Amino acid sequence: MNTSKTIRERRTIRRFNASPVPQELILSLLHEAASLYEAEGSFSWRCIYYDTLESRQRLANSMIAKIKDSSLGKLIPGKMTELLTKQAVNIPAHLVFIAEAADTPRQRDQNYAAVCSIMQNLQLLGWEHELGMLWYTDPMLTNPSFLDEIGLQVGERFAGILHIGYFDKTPKARKRTPAERNWTVMSGGDTLPSHQSQVSPQAILELLNEAVWAPNDGLREPWRFIYVAGGEAVDKLRNPAGDAASSLLLLVAKEESDNHKQEEDYGAVCCLIQNFQLLARAKPWQVHRLLPEWVYDQQRCQTFGIRPQERIVAVLELGLGEDTMNSSLPQTPQALNIRQL
Ligand SMILES: Cc1cc2nc3c(=O)[nH]c(=O)nc-3n(C[C@H](O)[C@H](O)[C@H](O)COP(=O)(O)O)c2cc1C
Repeated sequence: MNTSKTIRERRTIRRFNASPVPQELILSLLHEAASLYEAEGSFSWRCIYYDTLESRQRLANSMIAKIKDSSLGKLIPGKMTELLTKQAVNIPAHLVFIAEAADTPRQRDQNYAAVCSIMQNLQLLGWEHELGMLWYTDPMLTNPSFLDEIGLQVGERFAGILHIGYFDKTPKARKRTPAERNWTVMSGGDTLPSHQSQVSPQAILELLNEAVWAPNDGLREPWRFIYVAGGEAVDKLRNPAGDAASSLLLLVAKEESDNHKQEEDYGAVCCLIQNFQLLARAKPWQVHRLLPEWVYDQQRCQTFGIRPQERIVAVLELGLGEDTMNSSLPQTPQALNIRQL
């Protein structure tokens, strides 16, 4: 993958042409997308693939059920709802992504982060095959018909539908805010890094400025970055197995009171982190993605200026050269849990 170019040029596609999308291609890209995800700990997710006319019809009906059944919807002419259904049915393929239930908030987040990151990998890989995608999470989907259709279980989190198809026109890009504007340095009382095995803040900012081309709903750019440098500050936070020479990057989802937007924003930050990790593969860096237990301790988060509604989505442990940081990243590829309808 030409990572940098693809991340920069990928666009959300909302208009697809009628060319069919080969199922084998989607399956193979999905396997590749999952294999590109690297984070500490386990995760579980599932997805449902809709590509037959009958299944797309059923999915489309369940999606617009909320409009049809609402009192406002009853005033909408039948032709209009027919048109909406037809538009959805005409999209060649849909993949519904679900993070599975878990016993702890941390594991729930690990499952959700994995599925969102894999969705971003799939969007990038698809783009390289001229496939366009729309990540769709409209609140309209929180209706019993849709939730029944996808069989959402208690505790599971719906991450979104990827509408997939080929397209004729690429929409114009909308600018992103330079990462510097959302950047804080915490040196924990120490001087800024001078250790040879530390990645410089400038180099990190450079990569972040490419990573910010992540998809994000409403272009809210719901992220900010806290760079933690210096032995003492890093020691306070790092994974016990970590190397004292490493620095840390905290990736934070900004405050948003609406629950639906919070979920979308968490997903968008996962896309940005995934971009960052993919870009870092071209560098002589070690990057470990962690979600440590302390992230769920508000008091500890406050020491880094994290506000009550903000959430740390991941901690990236960064170092140069050989992998001395020793984190326990999963090495075995996971079997995919895909149901085709
Ligand atoms: C978690 C998430 C949810 C999204 N939900 C929607 C949606 O419901 N409807 C929509 O039109 N776009 C949605 N998008 C896509 C964004 O609108 C899109 O990324 C943004 O407009 C920037 O455009 P770009 O992806 O072409 O850079 C979503 C993106 C993400 C990451």
